Amino acid sequence: MTTTMSEAPTKPTYTLPPMPPRPTRVLAFIAMEAEAAPVARALGLGPAVPSDRGEIASRGTCMGMQVTVASPGRDPATGADRIGPVHAASALARLLREPFDLVVNIGTAGGFESQGLAIADLVLARDTMFHDARVALPAYGEVARAHTRLSADETGLATLAAATGARIGLASTGSSLDATADELVHFARTRTLAKDMELAALAVVCREEGVPLVALKGVTDLVDDHEPAHEAFARNLARTTARLADAVPGLLATLHRCD
Ligand code: ADE
Repeated sequence: MTTTMSEAPTKPTYTLPPMPPRPTRVLAFIAMEAEAAPVARALGLGPAVPSDRGEIASRGTCMGMQVTVASPGRDPATGADRIGPVHAASALARLLREPFDLVVNIGTAGGFESQGLAIADLVLARDTMFHDARVALPAYGEVARAHTRLSADETGLATLAAATGARIGLASTGSSLDATADELVHFARTRTLAKDMELAALAVVCREEGVPLVALKGVTDLVDDHEPAHEAFARNLARTTARLADAVPGLLATLHRCD
């Protein structure tokens, strides 16, 4: 089967339900515990408690909403956070057995210097896709890439971006922390702003479950810079998660007010 990166569509194939007018049950899905803990603290939530299926969550009431901050939890074999699209999708599907009005994905991402981004900058995702899904067959390629428009419309995105100081754009998902040369060409062509390992998978689950989704990403490393992503990520994780945690109360307050 031959593949090329130029097959990637520029228009989303899928859409998600629109933003609820006044969400009261909000699930903040955050891949790593190191990213989730500062957010839970900033929202004044209690300590995280593991479920019998491995996810960990803390919950509380803030700004008139019941907010749950949840992560996929740790891999029992290695003790590492269960990162990546497969764990994200399976954990979210379990978490959505309970009803939520809105899923908010918060987390770190690679950013793009060529798009004017710097470490600890924030990106609000307009759309997401799997940039490493290469299937040169009509329809199957679109299913695999799962290019999805997130729930906030342009007015909502602008309001949320003003509340958080974020840029608005494409946040693309893959299974790897690093990027191939072909992927760098694709990111430049699609003007991708952020590269993560969860969002497109969460969008598939939200589409199938009919739950609205918004996403805020913080930049820990610059994908189009020469420094290896894992080195910049480790150095900047604490700084960027602190920036995300600062922005989340304003994000949730604005979501609650969105009419
Ligand atoms: N999370 C933080 N940095 C990332 C990167 N460069 N790629 C994917 N996920 C990330």
